Amino acid sequence: MSRERLQRRKGGTRATTAQPSRKGRRSSRAAGPSPFWGPRTYPWPDRAGKFGRFGGRFVPETLMFALEELEAHYAKVRDEPTFRAELNQLLHNYAGRPTPLYLAERVSEDVGLRVYLKREDLAHTGAHKINNTLGQVLLARGMGKRRIIAETGAGQHGVATATACARFGLPCTIYMGSEDIRRQALNVFRMKLLGAEVVEVAQGSRTLKDATNEAIRDWVTNVETTHYIIGSVVGPHPYPMIVRDFQSIIGYEARAQFAEKEEEGPGALLACVGGGSNAMGLFFPFLGDPGVEMIGVEAAGEGLGGRHAASLVAGEVGVLHGSLSYLLQTPDGQVEVAHSISAGLDYPGVGPEHSHWKDTGRVRYTSVSDADALAAFHTCSRLEGILPALETAHAVVEAMRIAAKMHKDDVVVICFSGRGDKDCFEVARLEGEEI
Ligand SMILES: Cc1ncc(COP(=O)(O)O)c(C=O)c1O
Repeated sequence: MSRERLQRRKGGTRATTAQPSRKGRRSSRAAGPSPFWGPRTYPWPDRAGKFGRFGGRFVPETLMFALEELEAHYAKVRDEPTFRAELNQLLHNYAGRPTPLYLAERVSEDVGLRVYLKREDLAHTGAHKINNTLGQVLLARGMGKRRIIAETGAGQHGVATATACARFGLPCTIYMGSEDIRRQALNVFRMKLLGAEVVEVAQGSRTLKDATNEAIRDWVTNVETTHYIIGSVVGPHPYPMIVRDFQSIIGYEARAQFAEKEEEGPGALLACVGGGSNAMGLFFPFLGDPGVEMIGVEAAGEGLGGRHAASLVAGEVGVLHGSLSYLLQTPDGQVEVAHSISAGLDYPGVGPEHSHWKDTGRVRYTSVSDADALAAFHTCSRLEGILPALETAHAVVEAMRIAAKMHKDDVVVICFSGRGDKDCFEVARLEGEEI
């Protein structure tokens, strides 16, 4: 937030919710989903699939053809009116977009800032993941791939994939670590109800990294018939770009909705970062606005000196799951076991475009501990009547922190990436309650 803007606000020129100029503006809810995939002036990824020095394609030879096929198919359909119309129709009528941009008044009062929540928790299946899975299922169908596989951590991407597959009648296999199966039992049950096969992965840390390894193994074996729906902005090119494009609807909607509610701002955007797809979705359409600060929040777990999942804040550059990015690794280059209270942030890597933004300084990355996230889970539930996913709760904590440096009339937008129902059993267990 610039000093000038702060001064203006203190002088009382801040827009209120009763500005007459807003009358007659079109409601974005009535307008249906806003356009995704904005102007083509943004240079990344380059032709080699890189974001600066990050990204690329570090995969076995057998997967090269499938990645090239996916890249070519996406390039062909991304601007086709029929493809866009079908996806827009699904996002609107099936997934419930646009999701509201909601001024959380009691949280705002508590935090000391005006806090808007971009309500991805209200999208069908309860998180942002559905934006990507609907898009990728259409791509799979277009390429004639009749079988779908995916990895999942928190289970939200697994549920969103199983949902899209049920909608299109495609068989679907979801890989999930045993530890995540334990803490996200509700989502496992949901996936099975939706007709998916859930394959338990008992190797390694038994979390998202290991589930991803198994999904890649399956893909290498069945690549001719199978499309792998990666759940975040990670993996080899073109996945980080495709997932970013499908998720950027979050930011395009938020931008339009924000302009209807406020005269200027937002001062900052906040989002949790696991692989980085909800943050990417919110941030991407605001990249060209130098006045908008962007903050990605990783999981500090038990603290950065102990077990955590803060790849950008505390990692080193290396290769994981097909691309070059920051990741947690030992001094001799082995991937380290990540830890977070939230299964969706419990991943030792991060999307390559985030690594690029870290290096350029466009986005600031920080981290929040398990204990603070758990406290924010309760605060947000009690004050606003909205249970955040434990992943989302990390971003809420950062809003509380930056408030100290901002004016109470400053405005921030949090990507409210998902609902907390899935986490109730785990929170109860951690707090010694039986349900
Ligand atoms: C609700 C929710 N938020 C955030 C995440 C983290 O993923 P990403 O960083 O790709 O948005 C997950 C992952 O499962 C999730 O379920």
